[in-house]
Amino acid sequence: MPLFVLLIASLLFGISSLANSAEKTGTQTYVEGFQTFLGSSVDTGQVRAFNLTASPIEIMQDGETVTRWAYNGQLPGPILRVQKGDRVQVTLTNQLPQNTTIHWHGVRVPNAMDGVPFLTQIPVKPGKSFTYDFVPQDAGTYWFHPHVRGHEQLERGLYGTLIVEDEFEGKYDQDLVWMLDDVLTEDDGSLDEDFDFKFLDTGGRLGNIITINGENTPKFTFKAGERIRLRIVNPSNARNYRLSFANLPSAIIAVDGNLVGEPQQVEIFDIVPGNRVDIDLTIPENLEGQSVHIANTFFHREASGSALEGPQTIAKISIVGKVAKPKTFPLPVHTAVPDWTNALNEKPDFIFDFDTAFDISSLWTNKAFVSFTINNKVFGDHDITQLKNNKFYRMRFNNGTGLYHPVHIHGVFFKVLARDGVPVNEPYFRDTALLDYDGSLDIGVVPADLGEWLSHCHLLEHAALGMKSTINVTD
Ligand code: C2O
Ligand code: CU
Repeated sequence: MPLFVLLIASLLFGISSLANSAEKTGTQTYVEGFQTFLGSSVDTGQVRAFNLTASPIEIMQDGETVTRWAYNGQLPGPILRVQKGDRVQVTLTNQLPQNTTIHWHGVRVPNAMDGVPFLTQIPVKPGKSFTYDFVPQDAGTYWFHPHVRGHEQLERGLYGTLIVEDEFEGKYDQDLVWMLDDVLTEDDGSLDEDFDFKFLDTGGRLGNIITINGENTPKFTFKAGERIRLRIVNPSNARNYRLSFANLPSAIIAVDGNLVGEPQQVEIFDIVPGNRVDIDLTIPENLEGQSVHIANTFFHREASGSALEGPQTIAKISIVGKVAKPKTFPLPVHTAVPDWTNALNEKPDFIFDFDTAFDISSLWTNKAFVSFTINNKVFGDHDITQLKNNKFYRMRFNNGTGLYHPVHIHGVFFKVLARDGVPVNEPYFRDTALLDYDGSLDIGVVPADLGEWLSHCHLLEHAALGMKSTINVTD
């Protein structure tokens, strides 16, 4: 080949490879990183069928009979366990005096199975049934709850756990779920049933009792040397938690279902409404015979002065007996969590301002005085955010209120890039993150599932007063 041809060829080659890398250094690397993180889809061919009946139940509390709402008569609701790739079919039967649905929080389901009334399905009327049918593709701790009058239906007791098992199944001595909820009760132990006026225009309904699996300050008995996988879910209307495990070695190994790239410190993680964290908890061998108090240390700004603020014991652990042989496997981690630090160099594609507005109709309807808005609009009037599947987007949330807003987006996992303008490198994906009072939150997201998905504040009173919008993911 003559030299000049070679020269031209190499020039051409050089130019084309330059063009290639220009494409690559854009946001395409984030898309590829996310796809590698998700891995490929699986199908076990197994069908797992469940029935969930939502109905009022009577329970005994402090010697009094009180009414709550529950799935299958259980408070909290059942724990459904399935394998990744199983076909899950859940028939919901509504025996409540209201419409209801089930939303599979954090699970990437087909849009029509997402349980959002009038967006993805017609609500299930009293006396009627609906079957949810989906194949979970991501292992981890998920939960389910109604998406109709959530601020009432969750507070009354309607929520449960969906565990999609991963390869660490059976490795731990115990695998436990803690549903960490606060309830607001009257003096006789019954629920405060004023759902539609009280708390609606504030920081939400904060309870006067913190419960784990429905019990106030429960006791757990563990053995010295035991290693426990503790799956914590926050189904509270408005309460954030930070947990302290005292002298027990603990680490967060999963956030919102997905394993983390490296273990996280429990004591500094805000578990906000909607969040799940899986904790690897070890009971040291030398603590046999002792007891340990688990505390909540989150300080709620809205509730300063309330009895539930400041560190307080939420569970008591007695250490009785000893295991023969402690488990010593390394902390589980996800090996493909992409680093999106550079994504802050991209300009935000979308900005969402969370704010409040005076609701003039409150003057004659005796309802709450404010509505909660996203970009000055309430749900129904909201802007639909148009997104393309498998593209990277940077979003910024601004908080114009002195209130907390746990931001939840259906149908996606996202990564926090900055808080209040300060870059953070969280080695994990989430589906819910706290927008701090008067603060901002920057996230990156790659939609991977088609459809119009709800995006909202998971503080349930705020959601009830309009703080919801949608993202529409198309090809
Ligand atoms: Cu727990 Cu719209 O979600
Ligand atoms: Cu909010």
